[in-house]
Amino acid sequence: MRTAETPSPGAAEPLLRCLEPRDGPAYAALWREGLASHGHFFRTAPEDEPSPGIPTRFAPDSFTLGAFLGDALIGITSLEREPASRLRHKALISRMFVRPEAEGSGVGKLLLREALVRAESLGDLRQVCLTVLATNERAQRLYASLGFRGYAREPAAVRIGETFVDEIQMVRFLRREPRVPA
Ligand SMILES: CC(C)(COP(=O)(O)OP(=O)(O)OC[C@H]1O[C@@H](n2cnc3c(N)ncnc32)[C@H](O)[C@@H]1OP(=O)(O)O)[C@@H](O)C(=O)NCCC(=O)NCCS
Repeated sequence: MRTAETPSPGAAEPLLRCLEPRDGPAYAALWREGLASHGHFFRTAPEDEPSPGIPTRFAPDSFTLGAFLGDALIGITSLEREPASRLRHKALISRMFVRPEAEGSGVGKLLLREALVRAESLGDLRQVCLTVLATNERAQRLYASLGFRGYAREPAAVRIGETFVDEIQMVRFLRREPRVPA
């Protein structure tokens, strides 16, 4: 994988880096595009975020990754660690979107893998969680391929128009599974 820290002359592979405040307009355009084209896969409705901003802070435990082809932002995902002292062992992945033109070429997996590598480096962070709509089999397959497993299903969690959709909660432990008391 290529990151901003380890550039390579190969042109086809996207460059991954954490977004910065100056990326705000590109982020907003891509996220709006995602909500418009794949709104049936998100809990957020376009009208809930008329002017979306980068949803995380610009910190090691709260970041938004972008995948770039040249100057073009083609994929995004965010990771945010829980701030409360008793929840700080957990982080949440959200807002994953890859432009339709780039879908299926490994960009989503690169983004998620990089988010997990960065999560691993956060010392006492223990697990990463996410939610995905039950109708979104493609995303579920991606998450499962990187070690996430579903642990709960909330019935009718999200209402999209007149349709109620279940949501699956998934978790990926970073180092070792928590010990189950005997
Ligand atoms: C879900 C999404 C992020 C995946 O990104 P992507 O770049 O297309 O995915 P990748 O090419 O990295 O593929 C990763 C895995 O996804 C799965 N996948 C990819 N294309 C697929 C397809 N057409 N059908 C089924 N599974 C597919 C596979 O498990 C694949 O792993 P593999 O190549 O090792 O088999 C992207 O399709 C997307 O933005 N979808 C719309 C928005 C969305 O659903 N976001 C997630 C909300 S929870």
